[in-house]
Amino acid sequence: MNVRFVLNGKPAAVDAPPAARLLDVLRGALGLTGTKEGCGEGECGSCTVLLDGAPVNACLVLFGQVEGRAVTTVEGLGDPAQLSPLQEAFVKEGGAQCGICTPGFLVSAEALLAAIPQPGETDIREALAGNLCRCTGYQRIVEAVRAAAKERTSREPG
Ligand code: FES
Ligand code: FES
Repeated sequence: MNVRFVLNGKPAAVDAPPAARLLDVLRGALGLTGTKEGCGEGECGSCTVLLDGAPVNACLVLFGQVEGRAVTTVEGLGDPAQLSPLQEAFVKEGGAQCGICTPGFLVSAEALLAAIPQPGETDIREALAGNLCRCTGYQRIVEAVRAAAKERTSREPG
């Protein structure tokens, strides 16, 4: 089935089974391997993408469900030549170690900053509660999100 949707801001039409997992279509047919698979059952958040701006676990979304909707993956946030403020902050603050969880954290944090540009620590921890990290101990991730919020605000035209 040809599914039409918006992928990272551009129209896309992909021929794939509607019952396939969105995660598999992203990583397979579309070659967007930034989105990671950890648990495969909605527990770890490493496969988080935005669906119409809201974070979802791509391992639990069927490809047919994205018809007519907007999907944003970590590749849509920035690229190695031009990192987003969040990506830069994760690098600077040491918010990533092995990196498996990092795309999911970035995507969840992007949704948070879109909704709450200056989040408090509780907002950050709640927004990232569905993302698990076995390396960092979380504090540096929280600090990275806080730093990115500050940077984004300072980049806004005054
Ligand atoms: S791989 Fe989807 S939540 Fe873990
Ligand atoms: S950096 Fe390794 S799981 Fe988070």
